[in-house]
Amino acid sequence: MLSHVYIKDLSKHVGESVTLKGWLFNKRSSGKVKFLILRDGTGYLQCIVFKGNVSEEVFALADSVSQEASFEITGKVKEEPRAVGGFELDATDLKLIGDSVEYPITPKEHGIEFLIDNRHLWIRSKKQVAILKIRHRIVKAIRDFYDERGFTLFDPPIITPNAAEGTSTLFEMDYFDLGKAYLTQSGQLYAEAGAMALGKVYTFGPTFRAEKSKTRRHLTEFWMVEPEMAFYDLDDDMDLAEEFIEYIVQTVVKDCRPELEVLERDISKLEKIVRPFPRISYTEAVEVLKSKGREFTWGDDFGAPDETVISEDYDKPVMIHRYPSAVKAFYMKRDPENPEVALAVDVIAPEGYGEIIGGSQREDNLDFLLERIKEHNLPQKYFEWYLDLRRFGSVPHAGFGLGLERTVTWICGIDHLRETIPFPRMIYRNTP
Ligand code: 4AD
Ligand code: MG
Repeated sequence: MLSHVYIKDLSKHVGESVTLKGWLFNKRSSGKVKFLILRDGTGYLQCIVFKGNVSEEVFALADSVSQEASFEITGKVKEEPRAVGGFELDATDLKLIGDSVEYPITPKEHGIEFLIDNRHLWIRSKKQVAILKIRHRIVKAIRDFYDERGFTLFDPPIITPNAAEGTSTLFEMDYFDLGKAYLTQSGQLYAEAGAMALGKVYTFGPTFRAEKSKTRRHLTEFWMVEPEMAFYDLDDDMDLAEEFIEYIVQTVVKDCRPELEVLERDISKLEKIVRPFPRISYTEAVEVLKSKGREFTWGDDFGAPDETVISEDYDKPVMIHRYPSAVKAFYMKRDPENPEVALAVDVIAPEGYGEIIGGSQREDNLDFLLERIKEHNLPQKYFEWYLDLRRFGSVPHAGFGLGLERTVTWICGIDHLRETIPFPRMIYRNTP
C-alpha cells in the first residue's frame, strides 16, 4: 500500500484521514483559515487549514508555502459539491517537501514566448494539463481503434535513405560511410511492405519535416498514425478514415469532459462529428471556391485559406478526393477514369482547423510506379525494395496518415499546435 492517496481516488476515502502529496497550485487566505489548492497530476483539491486544528508551526507553514512548492498534507476527506472535484480536505498536518522560490509563471497573463521558454514549467498549468490528458486519451483511442479491428502495429525506421513525401522538407544527416541519411517524413512506404506481410497494419510514431513555414499548423517533429491496408481501394480508405475520426472524437467527448470544460470547448460541436461525412471531389471543391468569389485555377493545391472556405459549409470534417496528380505524391494511384487526378483524399477538419488526414490508394502497377519515380527524380536504387512489393504479389492497397497534433488542436479547440505536444519543435525553436 502506498503511504499516500491520489486526488482522483478520494471518493473511496470520504470520512477517512488520508495523506496526499503534490504541489501548491494556488492559495487563498482569510484570517484564521488558509485554503491551499493542491494538485497532484490526477486533479485539484482544496485543503482547509484552520488555525484551531493544527499546530502553530503547521499554520505558519500554510501561510508561507508558495506557488508550486511540493508538500505532503494529511487530513479528513469531506464531500463538498461546490469545491473543484467535489471534495475538500480538513487538514491536520502539513510537511514541506521542496520549496519553490519565485516561481516564474504567476496567475497573471504572460506572453507566449515567455511561456514557451518556460515550457518545462508551463505544462504544470491547468489548461496545459487538460490538453496533455486529452492527447493521452486520443493516443489510447487510436491504438484501441486499430487493435480492435485486426490491425498489427508496425514500427517503421526513423532513419531512412530517401524521401517519402517530397525532398523539400528533409532533415539530413551524415550516416557513417554510407553518405546522407534522413529523418523519416512518414512511415508509409514501410507500412506498405507491412501490409503485404500482415494484411492490415498501422504505424504510430514521430515523423519529421523541415518545414520552412512558420504557421500555427506546422511542427518540425510531429506524431502521425498511418494505417495501411491490402485490398482496400479509395472508397474503403475513406470509410475507414470517417469511422476512425468519429471514434476518436466521441471517445474524447465521453471520457474527457472535465478537461474539455477546463478548455471551455463547445462540446455540442464535437457531438456532431458522426458519420457520414461529406465527400466532394477536388473539382467540386474548386467550383465551391469560385462560387464564393475566390480566384483559383484548377490544378493548384489548396492553401489553408482555401481549405477554410471549402469547409465552412459543413459542421463535420469534409473529405476532398481526387486531386490533380501533379500536386500529389509519386506513390498515389491515378484514377483509371481520369489520369489527370490521383486517387487521393484529404480530410479537412471543421471550424477552420484545416487538413488532419492525407491519404490515397497506392500505385500497384510496377511500370506506372517506375514512371512516377523517374518523373519525380527519385533515386531508383533506394526504391528497389519498394518496387519489389509490385513485383511479388502486388495487390490494390490504400492508407492514410492522421496528424496527432492537428487532431488534438481541433478537438481541444485551441489556436496553435505548439500546446498539444510536451516540447514542441518548430522552425524557430528547439528548446527547452
Ligand atoms: O498529408 P501528409 O503529408 O501525408 C503523408 O505523409 C502520407 N504518407 C500519409 C499516408 O498516406 N500514410 O501528412 C499526413 C498528415 C497531415 O494531414 C497532417 O495532419 C499531418 O500529417 N502533418 C503535420 N502535422 C504537423 N506538422 C506538420 N509539419 C505536418 N505535416 C503533415
Ligand atoms: Mg497532406
